[in-house]
Amino acid sequence: MTTTVPTSEPTPTPTSTSAAFAARVVDAVKLYGTGDTRVRALDGVSVDFPAGRFTAIMGPSGSGKSTLMHCAAGLDTLTSGSAFIGDTDISALDDRRLTLLRRRRIGFVFQSFNLLPTLTVAENITLPLDLAGERPDPEWLDALVDTVGLRDRLHHRPGELSGGQQQRVAVARAFAGSPDVVFADEPTGNLDSRSGQEVLWLLGRTVRQAARTVVMVTHDPVAAAHADEVVFLADGRLVDRMSEPTAERVLDRFKSFAPHPSRRR
Ligand SMILES: Nc1ncnc2c1ncn2[C@@H]1O[C@H](COP(=O)(O)OP(=O)(O)OP(=O)(O)O)[C@@H](O)[C@H]1O
Ligand SMILES: [Mg+2]
Repeated sequence: MTTTVPTSEPTPTPTSTSAAFAARVVDAVKLYGTGDTRVRALDGVSVDFPAGRFTAIMGPSGSGKSTLMHCAAGLDTLTSGSAFIGDTDISALDDRRLTLLRRRRIGFVFQSFNLLPTLTVAENITLPLDLAGERPDPEWLDALVDTVGLRDRLHHRPGELSGGQQQRVAVARAFAGSPDVVFADEPTGNLDSRSGQEVLWLLGRTVRQAARTVVMVTHDPVAAAHADEVVFLADGRLVDRMSEPTAERVLDRFKSFAPHPSRRR
């Protein structure tokens, strides 16, 4: 079945100066722990994630990828520096406003799917909208369901689906409310390579056909090659950016800073 997401869906309208960026962090520092156990997970990272693009965050284990994503998406707070969603400085928001912003403007896909087992596929997909008290756009949802290929599974529970199917539900859920940006942390980490490829195509296709924005954390060069651009982290720092990546080029670049067994304190 070749169904596509509608191209007529309005793109979130940029409002002012930083409009071209769906998300960005400026001088981001994140320290965990204190004293001898202190870890500098982010060591002064400034990076922007352009609207309408698929960006991969790549780097060795422990380089700060998840920390960067969590802080950029308002799931965690920076020790210093700022994080923006569009023009909104989320470091300045109180918890209530941050929760609302996450619900209304950000979609999430995690390695472990994070679906609610007691809800049907359809209910899982619309959950963020229901929580935000927003009405779904029926045409957009309908197209999404076809895009992720789950039309005949809408009334099943997650436990009745394969891992790949569950992750496709999570992708539909992430895009359901037309968020400004979808953050995905190792979305293919629990999948076999074929299911993983399907999820990556799905993310790429949704960005390109419906002008969505995706930021994906991965340590897999093949996954990163699905993105429009790759940003490389090593030891909590931004060390490179690469446009139109291929798996080979990403792997070559990655090798040059991958072996970092120790963490700075
Ligand atoms: N809650 C925490 N408490 C203490 N240290 C943490 C915490 N979360 C992360 N760290 C440390 O911060 C550093 C960056 O971790 P992060 O999870 O961002 O790395 P990553 O690049 O996502 O790695 P991986 O590829 O293994 O998922 C690591 O040294 C990690 O041990
Ligand atoms: Mg991680």
